[in-house]
Amino acid sequence: MRAELIDGKAIAATIRDEVAVEVAALTARGVVPGLTVVLVGDDPASATYVGAKEKASVAAGMHGETIRLPATTTQAELLALVERLNADPAVHGILVQMPLPRHIDPDTVIRHISPDKDVDGFHPVNVGKLLIGHTDGFVSCTPAGVIELLVRSGVDTRGAEAVVVGRSNIVGKPMAALLVQGRAGGDATVTVCHSRTRDLAAHTRRADILIAAIGRAEMITGDMIKPGAVVIDVGMNSVADASRASGRRLCGDVHFESAVQVASKITPVPGGVGPMTIALLLRNTVQAAARTLERASAAVG
Ligand code: GUN
Repeated sequence: MRAELIDGKAIAATIRDEVAVEVAALTARGVVPGLTVVLVGDDPASATYVGAKEKASVAAGMHGETIRLPATTTQAELLALVERLNADPAVHGILVQMPLPRHIDPDTVIRHISPDKDVDGFHPVNVGKLLIGHTDGFVSCTPAGVIELLVRSGVDTRGAEAVVVGRSNIVGKPMAALLVQGRAGGDATVTVCHSRTRDLAAHTRRADILIAAIGRAEMITGDMIKPGAVVIDVGMNSVADASRASGRRLCGDVHFESAVQVASKITPVPGGVGPMTIALLLRNTVQAAARTLERASAAVG
């Protein structure tokens, strides 16, 4: 039997509707949530992502702004901009699009963003809060989106064997931290595999929930999947395809046609995890705006 598709597009649309309701409530209280995206250079893929983020934030009723800087921008100039945005009360969320030009150190930039405005969840303070289990930080949008996909598709993570393939700071590591936490969408037994893992397939075949976040096209094949497993494909790879007018097609880290025969549920690429990332970014921005009100009322007493 073919696996059921997890419709990330539909689930993301539901979350965006929920966000729009919260935006309206905050706006009525005098706070319009604001997201500022900073793009340095002219990488075409980044330009597309950034445009989608601005469009989605405006569609949710938020204030969305994109600051485009030339590739020649110095690190000092970028840090000065981040500091200005940190101090601007109309900006609740700051996102500096990665990758940055080679002469700018991404970690230095991330550390300059106020943790209270770091809606990407990349700042060490927010990563630390996630690991400890504190809920007043921001969680990286893609792994947070994966948890939403699991919970909203009725996948019980409690006690499940979850295998994460990939150990990036943006997906693999926070993904493992979320799956192991003692909350809804957590309580799993988590294994993290990576490029040095011996016998990858021996691990993936044990997984009740398999998360592929390696960045290698169609690397996880059906024979590496336990029958009935839930498969979440975080991969977004552009590969050559002569049958397409563009000459390319988008594919995941999972070989879909073989995996769909073995899994019980699976995310497609595109239309799975991808749309969730922006939805969770909007949710983080609304949370950032709501917290400014909470802090203001706590200060009044
Ligand atoms: N580049 C690709 N994905 C992301 C993301 O989620 N956040 C940032 N800041 N840059 C990215």
